[in-house]
Amino acid sequence: MPESRELKFSDAALEEYRSLLTHYPTRQAALLPTLWIAQREFGWLSEEAQAYVSSLMELPPAHVRAVVSFYTMFHRKPVGRYLLDVCTNLSCRLRGADRIVECISDRLKIGVGETTADGKFTLGVVECLASCGTAPMLQLNQDAFYENLTPDSTLKLIDELTARER
Ligand code: FES
Repeated sequence: MPESRELKFSDAALEEYRSLLTHYPTRQAALLPTLWIAQREFGWLSEEAQAYVSSLMELPPAHVRAVVSFYTMFHRKPVGRYLLDVCTNLSCRLRGADRIVECISDRLKIGVGETTADGKFTLGVVECLASCGTAPMLQLNQDAFYENLTPDSTLKLIDELTARER
């Protein structure tokens, strides 16, 4: 059995966290950006990761848990290397978001909220990402938008991501 390792920020992340605190009036106000650091560091916000943030920030565990569960951008279970978040809000839905979700699901053989067995892709659905004029769209890993999607362009994107080197 592998030795369990205590979860903690890297030195660089700790430094970033300390610097962050200087920009906020209270620790509580710095919780969201600190959770971003934690998610980047740990990949997702497990119970252990949430407990670490709670202890680091001296905030009640229930408060940290409530914030993490409120925001869909925080992952409470592991996600794949490529997180495909399809917007299914009104404009996107009217312009075919359901077909986009369906074609990703069919190609990758996963449902919404699931991850492929190789850990490469997770399919999610999200609320409006303020790109309604280019609906339907999806967000990749919370940092890139793919817009005016069709089933063909979506499958092409998946093929490109699949082909990328690890
Ligand atoms: S409804 Fe999809 S980006 Fe606004």
